[in-house]
Amino acid sequence: MSQRRVLTGITTTGTPHLGNYVGAIKPAIAESQNPDVQSYYFLADLHALIKAQDPQRVQQSRLEIAATWLALGLDTDNAIFYRQSDIHEIPELAWLLSCVCAKGLMNRSHAYKAAVAENEEGGVPDPDRGVTMGLFGYPVLMAADILMFNAHKVPVGRDQIQHIEMARDMAGRFNHIYKGDYFTLPEAIVDEKVEVLRGLDGRKMSKSYDNTIPLFVSAKKLQKLVRKIKTNSLEPGEPKDPDTCTLFQIYSAFATAEESADMRRRYAEGIGWGEAKNEVFEYLDAHLSGPRERYEALMNDPGHIEQVLQRGAERARAEANTLMERLRVAVGLGRFQ
Ligand code: TRP
Repeated sequence: MSQRRVLTGITTTGTPHLGNYVGAIKPAIAESQNPDVQSYYFLADLHALIKAQDPQRVQQSRLEIAATWLALGLDTDNAIFYRQSDIHEIPELAWLLSCVCAKGLMNRSHAYKAAVAENEEGGVPDPDRGVTMGLFGYPVLMAADILMFNAHKVPVGRDQIQHIEMARDMAGRFNHIYKGDYFTLPEAIVDEKVEVLRGLDGRKMSKSYDNTIPLFVSAKKLQKLVRKIKTNSLEPGEPKDPDTCTLFQIYSAFATAEESADMRRRYAEGIGWGEAKNEVFEYLDAHLSGPRERYEALMNDPGHIEQVLQRGAERARAEANTLMERLRVAVGLGRFQ
């Protein structure tokens, strides 16, 4: 029986934080250990160029994200782990898909519409100001990422569901126009159980709110950040509500069920914020120090990361190549023989 194929991409723009770990990295690594699943995880570095035009930042983020996934235990014998930009067939497929994708479909993309709305609200005469073809065609490249490996399931955040639907649309059109079952129709999976971690200010932890706790900062910096997590003005001795508390949420995303229950009891007993923060810091630091050491070792050995990614790219390209050959023939770009 063939394995279920699960695929997801990580845009390489920022530095990975606790929210990325809880929301995406941890569940992905767990899924990759399932023997019924073949997982494909990749650095969406071509996508990164849409948002980031600072080459150093793009390069650094790619390295940090690769090192993070490896440090946290991704088994690259199991999962196929690669850089999008190493798979030259992906932009080639994106072109084929562009040629079957209605422009009107792209007009409806949330990311594009948001950019236009912002211009209109700001009274900018050209509604497309600042919109590159990269941004406009973002969903086509993303469809190529997914369809290239005939992924069945694509774990994503809510904001990405529309992109998966667009990929299905493009797959269906291509299959229809070229009369064949070239592509599997992918399905988004949004795991309701996976928590959206809150950040320092209590809003969703996100680099765009500048409220993140990066995964691998020094112990000292980690302590400083944990102390910055917003709490309320209740005094030690006063009972506190864990369910509305960001500090508690962050703790329980890492702690076992028993440890969380214990902390919950101590909130009811009126643990002081200073003490609670110290405990959460100690706990996070103890759990992150192993991966942090591995992360630092990896960051100091980019050649090793390069090797791992090259191996991933080889495995991915073996598949991409075969499909691409078929697709070239399908559209009339096959070899003369
Ligand atoms: N757009 C995704 C995000 O911002 C990243 C991504 C690129 C992706 N290609 C993908 C996710 C393919 C899933 C499948 O989160």
